[in-house]
Amino acid sequence: MFSTKICCIGAGYVGGPTMAMIANKCSDVRVEVVDINAERIAAWNSDQLPVYEPGLDEIVAQARGINLFFSTDVESAIREADIIFVSVNTPTKTYGLGANRAADLRFVESVARSIAEHAGGPKIIVEKSTIPVRTAEAIKSILETSGSGHAHQVLSNPEFLAEGTAVADLENPDRILIGGETTPEGQAAIERLANVYGEWVPQERIIRTNLWSSELAKLVANAFLAQRISSINSISALCEATEADVDEVANAIGTDSRIGPKFLKASVGFGGSCFQKDVLNLVYLCGHFGLPEVAEYWESVITMNQWQKRRFADAVVQAFFNTVSNKRLAVLGFAFKKDTNDTRETPAIDVCKRLLEEQASLAIYDPKVETDKIFRDLDANDDDERLIVCASAQEAVQGANAILVITEWDEFKDLDFETLFESMVKPAWVFDGRNLLDHDKLRAIGFKVRAIGKPCE
Ligand code: NAD
Ligand code: UGA
Repeated sequence: MFSTKICCIGAGYVGGPTMAMIANKCSDVRVEVVDINAERIAAWNSDQLPVYEPGLDEIVAQARGINLFFSTDVESAIREADIIFVSVNTPTKTYGLGANRAADLRFVESVARSIAEHAGGPKIIVEKSTIPVRTAEAIKSILETSGSGHAHQVLSNPEFLAEGTAVADLENPDRILIGGETTPEGQAAIERLANVYGEWVPQERIIRTNLWSSELAKLVANAFLAQRISSINSISALCEATEADVDEVANAIGTDSRIGPKFLKASVGFGGSCFQKDVLNLVYLCGHFGLPEVAEYWESVITMNQWQKRRFADAVVQAFFNTVSNKRLAVLGFAFKKDTNDTRETPAIDVCKRLLEEQASLAIYDPKVETDKIFRDLDANDDDERLIVCASAQEAVQGANAILVITEWDEFKDLDFETLFESMVKPAWVFDGRNLLDHDKLRAIGFKVRAIGKPCE
């Protein structure tokens, strides 16, 4: 009944949405998403999906139980599939050789071993996870040494979706990148995968390359994006010192078509599970291949981001004459960007931890992040007197000395700041880490305002 059977190992932020899109667009493809995390699989099979993404509930509901399935039976999914996507996590290594830089490939390796053991026939294995250049070589060597004799093909097909816009990005991608071996078998495997995407992506947007270009291009794309944010954030500090306005500078340079307007929004710093880990991975690779100057160049993107997060927290402390001890600070937003419940590497963690060290009392509100997650991320327990998680922005702000905007959730723009001002301790401050709010309006109400890359009062 189905022309192709796909299995995806790893039901996370990438595996779930990506496979839901393939299942929606390709009715003759059967898609099975498997994971060793039974709780996560149960959530994918429920009405409360483990990932919050606008539009995701709808596309999962349309295909689930028809040609989209979620299960923990990794072995049989491997056996049944023609194409196996590997979409497991590839965090930064925290131990041993390459610690704090290299990618930890133990999950990818363990999947490769499972495939070698349970394949039962030749498969197309697709690296969807972001991995260091030449990882396909390691996967192939694990498959070859298993002694099964099956002629598997390994492809690289990195994912470029951004959280918060995953469904739109998957539906209308700038490009699909597929890397494979230059042999006839490799080229045939590329075309088989290209045909799946070809159901909804125009052929001219499907880029075919060799394996290594594809693997490296993913790291380089994230490094270039992160570099733009660090570049504009570095300029934000200069703007504050010179009374230039960073949004005006960004707009003025972004209209140059060679520079372009996107990814020039100054902020409290970039977060998310991938930018830092992928840039560090690039730094590690450059060092490994004997290119220390190149490694140092890219490492500065991370250094600048760390500095920007610290600079924001320090500005809050300085505004209160170097002591926020026992001051109530309302933290609006904890996710690393709007429209996601993901808090991995969110700048909120660094900012909140630094303010807790300064003995501030934090009242945190985020529309989508669960309370438990916030406590876990801050290494705190719910009996910690200096940390509360609130059910609304109003509750967080009540009795606070300052509002800190960390995530650019749309609902924060529509808050009734006049009423909030009344409920706060004076002088009432706003520290806008996203340049989200109307600062002139806030000043007219009576707030003292500090924002990123904006002239200080
Ligand atoms: P995630 O942590 O949300 O999901 C990974 C899943 O893999 C987890 O549920 C985990 O239980 C599962 N897993 C690990 N080992 C397994 C095994 N042996 N068998 C079965 N399941 C296993 O990660 P994610 O955010 O989906 O990222 C996955 C990959 O995609 C990473 O390499 C990441 O860099 C890359 N990526 C992520 C994004 C993003 O927006 N999050 C975008 C592009 C690329
Ligand atoms: C990013 C890339 O945009 C995706 O293409 C890539 O697939 C993904 O990483 C990945 O490999 O995981 P994501 O991290 O989900 O996606 O979200 P982004 O929109 O890139 O935002 C990352 C961080 O940068 C957020 O904290 C965001 O607030 C910040 N940012 C973004 C800025 O501070 N300024 C900007 O102009 C843009």
